[in-house]
This record gives sequence, structure tokens and C-alpha cells, in this order.
Amino acid sequence: MKIAFHLFVHFSLLVLVSCYGGNGYDPLENALKIQRSRRTIPKHASKDATVENSYIPVYVGPQDGLKDADKVSELPGQPAGTDFDQYSGYVTVDPSHGRALFYYFAESPINSSTNPIVLWLNGGPGCSSIGGGAMMELGPFRVNADSTTLSRNKYAWNNVANVLFLESPAGVGYSYSNTSSDYTTGDAQTAKDSYAFLVNWLERFPEYKTRDFYIAGESYAGHYIPQLTQLILQNNKITNQTVINLKGIALGNAYVDDETSNTGMYDYFWTHAIISDEIHEGIISNCNFSEGANITGECNYYQSEALTAKSSIYFYDIYAPLCSTFSNSTPSISGFDPCTGNYIHKYLNTPVVQQSLHAKPVQWENCNDFVGIHWKDMPFTVLPVIQDLMASGISVWIYSGDTDGRVPVTTTRYDINKLQTPVKTPWYPWMYQDEVGGYVVGYQNLTFVTIRGAGHFVPSYQPGRALAFFTSFLEGKLPPDQ
Ligand SMILES: *[C@@H]1O[C@H](CO)[C@@H](O)[C@H](O)[C@H]1NC(C)=O
Ligand SMILES: *[C@@H]1O[C@H](CO)[C@@H](O)[C@H](O)[C@H]1NC(C)=O
Ligand SMILES: *[C@@H]1O[C@H](CO)[C@@H](O)[C@H](O)[C@H]1NC(C)=O
Ligand SMILES: *[C@@H]1O[C@H](CO)[C@@H](O)[C@H](O)[C@H]1NC(C)=O
Ligand SMILES: *[C@@H]1O[C@H](CO)[C@@H](O)[C@H](O)[C@H]1NC(C)=O
Ligand SMILES: *[C@@H]1O[C@H](CO)[C@@H](O)[C@H](O)[C@H]1NC(C)=O
Repeated sequence: MKIAFHLFVHFSLLVLVSCYGGNGYDPLENALKIQRSRRTIPKHASKDATVENSYIPVYVGPQDGLKDADKVSELPGQPAGTDFDQYSGYVTVDPSHGRALFYYFAESPINSSTNPIVLWLNGGPGCSSIGGGAMMELGPFRVNADSTTLSRNKYAWNNVANVLFLESPAGVGYSYSNTSSDYTTGDAQTAKDSYAFLVNWLERFPEYKTRDFYIAGESYAGHYIPQLTQLILQNNKITNQTVINLKGIALGNAYVDDETSNTGMYDYFWTHAIISDEIHEGIISNCNFSEGANITGECNYYQSEALTAKSSIYFYDIYAPLCSTFSNSTPSISGFDPCTGNYIHKYLNTPVVQQSLHAKPVQWENCNDFVGIHWKDMPFTVLPVIQDLMASGISVWIYSGDTDGRVPVTTTRYDINKLQTPVKTPWYPWMYQDEVGGYVVGYQNLTFVTIRGAGHFVPSYQPGRALAFFTSFLEGKLPPDQ
């Protein structure tokens, strides 16, 4: 087992040379390619896929004193005047395997004792919520180009919530297992481990036990969040352990259905002048992306032409520059530095940074390709799960940065059509600082919000608009029309 573990670490170093800043890197596509090639028999997200077993109380380890030990006195390079508390460390979710998940928690500077708590999840599958969410998107700091100092993110989401970033599942970021076979994992195990993490974390931070709780995330978290939410709601009814006071979820540029992820993406490429009429027409007339249908050779040909066409642009934000030697002279519409991922990678691999975070000394990677490629269970769609959650009474928001080509807004609109929920408040532009921040539709039990000019990693590119819509989400109000 030890040898396998070391081989794994070595292997992951070799394959993980790419990051989001360059062109072509696409961990979701890599995982989907393998899943799709395996799918022969239709396999639905059964309404209770994650809760099919009868309830077993999760392992709860002793947490006394661990909160104090997790307190981050200071992150290297953080600006003076940091006025909120930060914590990070490991929570053991399976002691027999030696499996532990790593978190970073940023409290609010003001009102932390009353503000809600929000769990943030990045996707992949296999990508880090600390490298993505915390350091690049909505966290309190951004890593500067020197890779050693941080600057304050004025639009950080911890202004309005206490934000908990979780590296999930084991193998991602600083999270690990002493049993190497745990790195072959999937949706069901990820939901179970995340639930065990939360129950233990709330023992470590008991003052948060009854606080309003929300989950937000993006991309492949379109699977993680509905599945974890379903497990929480189910267990809340039967557990004699901590009940999680879950109020709502927000899914951003979320991968939730395999058919719409294909149709919506190719339609977006065509309507945004990335692929030719011929390629689009070739896909329309040769591809059947519905569950159980066979992909023909012709369809594969046109798809690979489309993927080649998009591979030379940064398709997570289609009008943004790539991280290249010229990027300093290429203005980005959003002002976001496309090389940010490189700065984060260097910062999170600095030994003093790892020490201050209480992380084990490891080679940290933003995405673990081994985990993504070896993913076991990935249902074709989680729309039935989302429908259950919509009827459960919690708040369900689906948001979309409208310049993302990875899980574009067309895909999300096709998803919502499949959910078949009636419109209550018709489409209108929402306003932020006298500009259109995006568009909203209020459906029965569902709110759909776009963020104008934002790519896949919404708060990276439109931080002000992102914080504005997120504040409305927490307040349970539609974003303002003026
Ligand atoms: C993993 O193994 C190391 C070395 O034996 C041990 O220190 C650590 O506590 C283990 N991790 C977990 C989560 O049990
Ligand atoms: C803190 O809470 C008070 C009382 O609810 C509110 O009036 C104030 O605006 C809040 N401040 C911030 C920065 O959230
Ligand atoms: C919780 O319930 C399980 C089984 O239903 C039982 O084994 C366990 O002892 C209970 N724990 C507490 C703290 O009551
Ligand atoms: C696509 O495939 C599905 C599943 O095999 C089938 O039910 C459907 O009729 C097909 N659609 C078209 C347009 O051929
Ligand atoms: C897909 O192909 C397999 C093997 O060629 C065949 O058995 C199956 O019936 C096909 N499915 C559809 C929906 O055409
Ligand atoms: C909305 O939720 C209610 C119950 O809370 C449920 O009866 C209704 O079917 C749901 N509608 C949709 C479209 O989800």
C-alpha cells in the first residue's frame, strides 16, 4: 500500500503540469470522456442514490482543543489590518483508512456571530476549493504576481457570510488518505465523506451548530451539492447526531446533466462564433446525446473538430487572454490576471505557507487528474435530485457567468427547461452600480440568475456583481431591478 501511495504521488507530479490559466486544460472533459466511453446501460441518479443504505451514524472523533490548534495566526504575506479570524486543518472522516479532509475557514470581519455559514465547493472532479474558491475567486485574499504576498479581495464573500472551503474528496488539494485505494472514488463516497466532515467540523466549532447553513459551488459541484444536500436532508430526519440547519444551495455554471452539457456547449460555441456552421450542422445531424444512445463515428468526428476549435482559447472565459508571456500587455475585459493560477500554485507550495495553514508538507496541485480520471460513479443526470430539493422547501438558486464556454449559460437554460417549473417572475435585468449585472428569472422553487461578463469562475471575473447576487441569495430576495 505504501509503495502504491508513493507511486501515486510521483505519477500525479508527472501528469499535473497544466493549470486553468493555459489553453486546453479541461479536467471535466477528461473525466467525462472516460465516463461516457463506459456508459452502455442507462444509469439514472436514482432519487435516493446516496441514501440507499439504511442510516449509519457517522464516525465522530474527539474535537476538543482542535479549533484553537487550527487557528491561523497569519498567512505569510497577508496585508496589515486583517480583521477577521481564519482557521484551517484536517478533519478525519475515516480513522480506519486514515482519511482526512482539509478545510480553510474565513469568518466575517463584522457580524461573524450572526452571519450564516456557507460551505464552498469547487468541482473537477478532483479540483481544490482552496486553490480555486479561496485564493482565486471569492476568498478574502488574492495571491499577488510575486507569489509571496497577498492582497485583500474587497468583494470577498466573507463580508456577508462565514465561508468554509473544503478540499473534497480525499486526494484533492491537501486532503489525503493513508489508504491509496481511496483515491479511486466517486460521487457517493464524496457525499458521505463531506457529510462526515460537516458533522465533525460542527463538533469542533459548536457555536455554528444551529447557524443558518448554505452550500454554494460551481462546475462539477453541480453533482456534489445536490447529492450532499439530499444526504443532509435525509439524515437530518433520522440522526441522533448534529442536525445541519440547511437553508439553501447555489449552483454556479454547474454540470448537472450530460445531455444538456453537450447540446448547450456546442450551441454556445456556434452562437459565439467559435465553431463553423459545418461543424455545428454536423453535430446536430449526427449526434444523439441522450441517455443510452450510441455515439457514432461521424458524431465523434464533428465533436473532436469542435473541441479542437475551442482548445486555442481560454474557454472558461471566452473573451479573456491566455496566460502567456504577452499576457501583461493584453488587457482583459475583467482585469483578471490570467496567470493567477500560477501564483497560487507557487504560494500554496511554499513550506511556510503550508505550515501556517497546518497542512502536511506536500506537493499541492489545483486538480488531481488521477482522481478525476479514475472516478467511479457519475450518474448521467442529477436533475431528479434537484427536483426533490426544490420540493423540500430549501432555497435553490442556479447561477451562470455568461461568458463561460465550459458549462455555458445555454446548457443551464436547457437544464432549467428539463426541470419544468413554472415562471413566477419573468426575465428581467438586475442592476448593480447602475449597470445590468445580469438577468433573473424567478421560477417556482427555483431562481435563475446570470452574471454578465463573467466566465466559469464567476467571482474571479466579476467580483462586484458576484458579491451582489450572492448577498441577494443569502437574503432570500431576487437581485434588485434598480
Ligand atoms: C496517516 O498516517 C500518518 C502516519 O502514520 C499518521 O500520522 C496520520 O495521523 C494518519 N492520518 C489519519 C487521518 O489517520
Ligand atoms: C451587522 O448587523 C447589523 C444588525 O443586523 C446590521 O445593521 C449591519 O448592517 C451589519 N453589518 C455588516 C457589515 O454586515
Ligand atoms: C445513535 O443511534 C445509534 C443507532 O441508532 C446508536 O447506536 C448510538 O448509540 C446513538 N448515539 C447516541 C449518542 O445516542
Ligand atoms: C436518441 O436516442 C434515444 C435513446 O436511444 C432515443 O430514444 C431517441 O429517439 C433518439 N433520438 C433521435 C432524434 O434519434
Ligand atoms: C448501441 O449499440 C449497441 C452495440 O452495437 C447495440 O446493442 C444497442 O442496441 C445500440 N443502442 C441503441 C439505442 O441504438
Ligand atoms: C414546489 O414545492 C412544493 C412543495 O414545497 C411542491 O408541492 C411543488 O411540486 C414544487 N414545484 C416544483 C416545480 O418543484
